[in-house]
Amino acid sequence: MIKPDAVENGHIGAILEKINAAGFKIKAMVMTQLSRNDAQEFYAVHRERPFFGELVDYMTSGPIVAAILEKDNAVEDFRKLIGATNPEEAAEGTIRKLYAQSIAANAIHGSDSDDNARIEGDFFFSGRARY
Ligand code: CMP
Repeated sequence: MIKPDAVENGHIGAILEKINAAGFKIKAMVMTQLSRNDAQEFYAVHRERPFFGELVDYMTSGPIVAAILEKDNAVEDFRKLIGATNPEEAAEGTIRKLYAQSIAANAIHGSDSDDNARIEGDFFFSGRARY
């Protein structure tokens, strides 16, 4: 998911370019804006965290781009491509190092397991598209 800061700052094209260049196939994609309910559901695992309110405020602040990506070893390779959650800790050349503003507005989200990739893909695309 390309997050509101990266969409607002005009980085959709550059980020998709990097994703393609790293060998990922885009299987489905949508630009949409999350409601508060959507954001609370998507990030339910973080419900008890002190930053949850800030996360929901931020994730509903503007449009996002959600995509299903395909590649061998996709989860691990995508997390390497996007870099650490905190852009100050992200490696040079990673999407977060290049485009993130802060740990909250960190440009992009990637699923952390194959199971969560399925759940998060279904969140955006179930009933809308085949992938
Ligand atoms: P993401 O990979 O989308 O998963 C959960 C998100 O919570 C994370 O990226 C950050 O954007 C956000 N997050 C994690 N830690 C903090 C924090 N300490 N303060 C604010 N937001 C955070």
